[in-house]
Amino acid sequence: MKLLVVFLLVGTMMVLSEGFPEPEPGPEAKPTEGSEPETESADEDENSVVKRAAGCPFDWIGFRNDTERKIGAMKEQLAALANRQNNSEKWIEDLERKVIFSAATDGSGAVGPFNTDTILVYQTVMTNIGDAYNQTTGVFTTSVSGTYYFTFFYHAGREHPATLRLYKNEQLVARSHDHKGGDDGADNGGNAVILQLQKGDRVFVRLLAHTHIWAKNHITTFSGFLIR
Ligand SMILES: *[C@@H]1O[C@H](CO)[C@@H](O)[C@H](O)[C@H]1NC(C)=O
Ligand SMILES: *[C@@H]1O[C@H](CO)[C@@H](O)[C@H](O)[C@H]1NC(C)=O
Ligand SMILES: *[C@@H]1O[C@H](CO)[C@@H](O)[C@H](O)[C@H]1NC(C)=O
Repeated sequence: MKLLVVFLLVGTMMVLSEGFPEPEPGPEAKPTEGSEPETESADEDENSVVKRAAGCPFDWIGFRNDTERKIGAMKEQLAALANRQNNSEKWIEDLERKVIFSAATDGSGAVGPFNTDTILVYQTVMTNIGDAYNQTTGVFTTSVSGTYYFTFFYHAGREHPATLRLYKNEQLVARSHDHKGGDDGADNGGNAVILQLQKGDRVFVRLLAHTHIWAKNHITTFSGFLIR
């Protein structure tokens, strides 16, 4: 591009110092029939001499016009490249973002049964890269759109059923259930889902009314991560 600008400047300077090209001499009167061919070629030689004498055998205006057009095209290409670079940088920034969390319920025994459906709060945070999981509310709220993997596992049994439901906002997406069982005091259950989330979407687990889970010893967990 710099080279072309230099060419353009040199070209302009030469045009200024040597003057613009004279208009080409109009066509000479056609030689009459029967005139000798030597006359014609002599006329042509004369035209060339006139051109050279005018000092401008080269079409500087055309050259300048062509150069300007090429520079314009290059500017457009540069702008397109800058735009592509911006997009790539944004893409890389997004790739470097990590969202990973894992949390467990905490307490001395069971959580529930409650009279109403209740969001299960997993107070013990093991991993929370990206701070999307809130251990006060039990709600995961993403700031990165993408595809996520979630799991929830629980331990329960005996005198109450255990019903857990995973929600995306207010949409029920997965559930796990265990019946009340007399002698059966040690059941484990859970589920896993892959969800497409937009920035601001909330994911959480509800413990249904009149059901319970065992909270002690990290036996009931909620985890998730951004796949991409
Ligand atoms: C150069 O560009 C000007 C303006 O666009 C145009 O009027 C002129 O005809 C062009 N000359 C040549 C030789 O291309
Ligand atoms: C690229 O991004 C920078 C900073 O965000 C901005 O100033 C510039 O205008 C952008 N360029 C293009 C071509 O989008
Ligand atoms: C978690 O939620 C509580 C209650 O809404 C809020 O006060 C707190 O700021 C939140 N924590 C984070 C880290 O966002």
